[in-house]
Amino acid sequence: MITEIEKITDESVKKAAEILRNGGIIGMPTETVYGLAAAGTIPSAVKEVFVVKGRPNDNPLIAHVHKNYDIEKLVEVERDYVYKLKKLFTPGPLTMVMKSRGVVCDEATCGGDTLAIRIPSHEGCQKLLREVDLPIVAPSANLSKHTSPVTAEHVFNDLNGKIPLILDGGKCTGGIESTVLDVTGEVPRILRAGLITKEMIENVVGACVVAEHKAGDKVKSPGVKYTHYKPRCDTCLYKENELEKAALRYEEEKTSGKTPYIMCRNAVAKYFNGKNLLNLGDTEEEIAASLYAALLEGEKKADIIIAIDMPSEKGIYLGITNRLRKSCG
Ligand code: TXA
Ligand code: MG
Repeated sequence: MITEIEKITDESVKKAAEILRNGGIIGMPTETVYGLAAAGTIPSAVKEVFVVKGRPNDNPLIAHVHKNYDIEKLVEVERDYVYKLKKLFTPGPLTMVMKSRGVVCDEATCGGDTLAIRIPSHEGCQKLLREVDLPIVAPSANLSKHTSPVTAEHVFNDLNGKIPLILDGGKCTGGIESTVLDVTGEVPRILRAGLITKEMIENVVGACVVAEHKAGDKVKSPGVKYTHYKPRCDTCLYKENELEKAALRYEEEKTSGKTPYIMCRNAVAKYFNGKNLLNLGDTEEEIAASLYAALLEGEKKADIIIAIDMPSEKGIYLGITNRLRKSCG
């Protein structure tokens, strides 16, 4: 199969919608990462997503809808705070898990009684979702266990020959996957940290907890039990108070004939002057936006990525450190 990359236009969006309605799958941009999209109401299309990604079939998918879609067609809204969160944070990188009404097929929810819903803010994605007017399920458009893609080219590199079309909506501005929030309980519970932070949710609802995923737990967000986000090169991770150790490691790797790259935020980059660098930028937003692109660039150029951890776990840093530790720890 030939995989075409097409910029978002009225025509390419119509073509993509047609493929989705006919049970095909495509690459689609969102503001967080690119998704591998299928109509959530067509079981054979959803199955194909799992096959193409090589995704374990006990890990459910997120259903994406446009901003005027009535989500109560798909889920039961049991908590009033859901309306506040929806009003403030969507369209945007927030996914809410609620009781499913069964419109989205069992293949997507993996037979569970809940459904994760997301209303992406990416304009091109909204255009596509309006055009199909169906819940579109989409995991990140990478092969299972690889880093999530943030450009159409990244999607192509993983899925060339396996899907007919990738809609090119430019580089994702968010850069890490959406916050997944369980909103079935009295207090919302973060299952996966992201750009909509615990602090932001607390400010609106009054309380918010971060789910702890311990070994042996019956996890509520099955995805977190899998190792994701791994670049295809060696990696290691040092704390910000271990810069000297990291620099030593760099020299050791170099001496042994390898090509090391240091990956860190701009504030500590000057410590590594003259070394191969993947600079993630200054602010939390910049760092989130450049993390996956840096890992994907790193795996091409480096034999080993020597990553430096973030200075805290507050705000967006929580989502960043989660990914950084999974990919490099
Ligand atoms: O930003 C994103 O969320 C991207 C873009 C494409 O929208 N999508 C994405 O999908 O990251 P995926 O499949 O890679 O991750 C979905 C996460 C997984 O951790 C999965 O376990 C969790 O959401 N999830 C999906 N449905 C769930 C449900 N019903 N209950 C609990 N967790 C759920
Ligand atoms: Mg993923």
